[in-house]
Amino acid sequence: MRYAPIERQFFINNRKKLVNELKPGSLSVINSNDTMPTNADGTMAFRQNNDLFYLTGIEQEESILVICPSFREEKKREILFLRQPNEHLEKWYGHKLTKEEAQAISGIETVLWLPEFDAMFHHLMAMGGTDYVYLNTNEHYRSEVVVQTRDARFIDWCQAKYPLHTYQRLAPWMAKLRRIKSAPEIELIQKACDITEKGFRRVLKFTKPGVKEYEIEAEYVHEFIRHGSKGFAYTPIVASGKNNVVLHYIENNQVCKSGDLILLDVAAEYANYNSDLTRTIPVSGKFTARQKEVYHSVLHVQREAFKMLRPSMIYFDYQKEIEKLMESELKKLKLITDTDIKNQNPENPAYRKYFYHGTSHMLGLDVHDVGNMHDNVQVGSVWTIEPGIYIKEEGFGIRLENNVWVGEKENTDLMKNIPIEADEIEALMN
Ligand code: GLY
Ligand code: MN
Ligand code: MN
Repeated sequence: MRYAPIERQFFINNRKKLVNELKPGSLSVINSNDTMPTNADGTMAFRQNNDLFYLTGIEQEESILVICPSFREEKKREILFLRQPNEHLEKWYGHKLTKEEAQAISGIETVLWLPEFDAMFHHLMAMGGTDYVYLNTNEHYRSEVVVQTRDARFIDWCQAKYPLHTYQRLAPWMAKLRRIKSAPEIELIQKACDITEKGFRRVLKFTKPGVKEYEIEAEYVHEFIRHGSKGFAYTPIVASGKNNVVLHYIENNQVCKSGDLILLDVAAEYANYNSDLTRTIPVSGKFTARQKEVYHSVLHVQREAFKMLRPSMIYFDYQKEIEKLMESELKKLKLITDTDIKNQNPENPAYRKYFYHGTSHMLGLDVHDVGNMHDNVQVGSVWTIEPGIYIKEEGFGIRLENNVWVGEKENTDLMKNIPIEADEIEALMN
C-alpha cells in the first residue's frame, strides 16, 4: 500500500452506523467495481467502489460484502467474499489478499472465497430472518452511467432468483453516512490537501513563458506520486490564456504565453480520499492591473462564502446569496450594469454570463461526493468553495477553490497553507 494503514476500527464503526439505519430483518450486499476495459486486452487502473471501501477498506477487485445483522450465528452477520489466491494469479498479477490480511484490514471475522458465495447467500436469504434486501445503486445527482456495474448485475441476478423478498435502496443510507466525515477521514483529506500544496508550490517555481501546459501537469503528478498519492484526484485542468474560461478543459496541450493567466484545477488523491484545488496564476509571474482587480473580486467572494457555508444554510440558498454577491462584484468590475440587471431574464440572469457554475460541492471518497444537497449543510461535512469569474471578451477567467470542513463552532480551511493572495503568488514566482 502507498498509504499508512487506516485504523480498522474506522471500517467497523462505519458498518455499525449503517446497520443502525436499516430496518430490522435487513440484509445488505455491496459489490466491488469492475476493472474497466480500455481496448483489446487493456484495462484501466482499478478503482474500488467507494461504498465498499468505506465499509471494509478492501481495495481488491471481485470482492463482495454481505451484512445480515439478525442472523442467529454472530460470526456470519458480516461476511467478506474474496477471490481465492492461486499460483497463476500470483505469477501474473502478484499478491492477492489472504483471509488473515483481509480480516486485519476490515475487522471482519468471516472471510470466504467467492465459490462459496451462492450457498452461503441462499442460507442467509432463506434462514437469516431476512425480510429486506438492501442493494446498491449509483444515485449520484450528476451520474450518467451507461455501463452496467457489478452492483447492477447483482441486482438482476438477485431479483430473478429471489423475486419475493422486499428490495430496498442502500444508496440513500450510504450517502447519509458518507457526507459526515469522521476524524480518520479528515486526516486523509488533509493529507491529500498537503500533497496538493507541494505540487502547487513546485509549479509556482516551474512556470514561465514558453512552458507547455502538459509540462506543468507532469510537475504536479511527479510531486503527487512521490508523496504516496496514486495521482490526480480527477483529470487535471491546466488551462492557459483563452482556455481559462472553459470549465472542463483537459487537453492541456498549449504553450503558456507571457501576459496570460493559467487556471490550475489540479489536486491529489490520498488513500482514495480526494482534495480539489484551483488556483489561477500569471504565466509571467506578474498579474496585470485588470487581472488583479478581477482576482480580488473572486477572492472576496470566496472569503465571504467561507463565512456563509454554515449549518444554518441549505446549499441552494447559499448559492443564491453567492450569486447576489457576485452580481455586485461584476458591477464593480463594470462587466454588468444596473440596466442589465433590471432588464434581465430571471431564467438567465446577467451575472451568469461571467459566473456559470455552482460555488460548492461536497468532497470525500468522490470528488463530487454523495450526500443530499437539499438538507442543511451538515456539521462534519467537507465542501469545496470555488467561485469564478470568466471574461471571454477579455481573454481570461479566474477561479479559486479551497476545501473546507464544517465544524460545530466554525469552519476549518483545509487549504489554509496553500498560497492564494495575489501578492504572495507573485512573490513565490519571482
Ligand atoms: N475539479 C472538479 C471541480 O472543481 O469540481
Ligand atoms: Mn476543482
Ligand atoms: Mn470542485
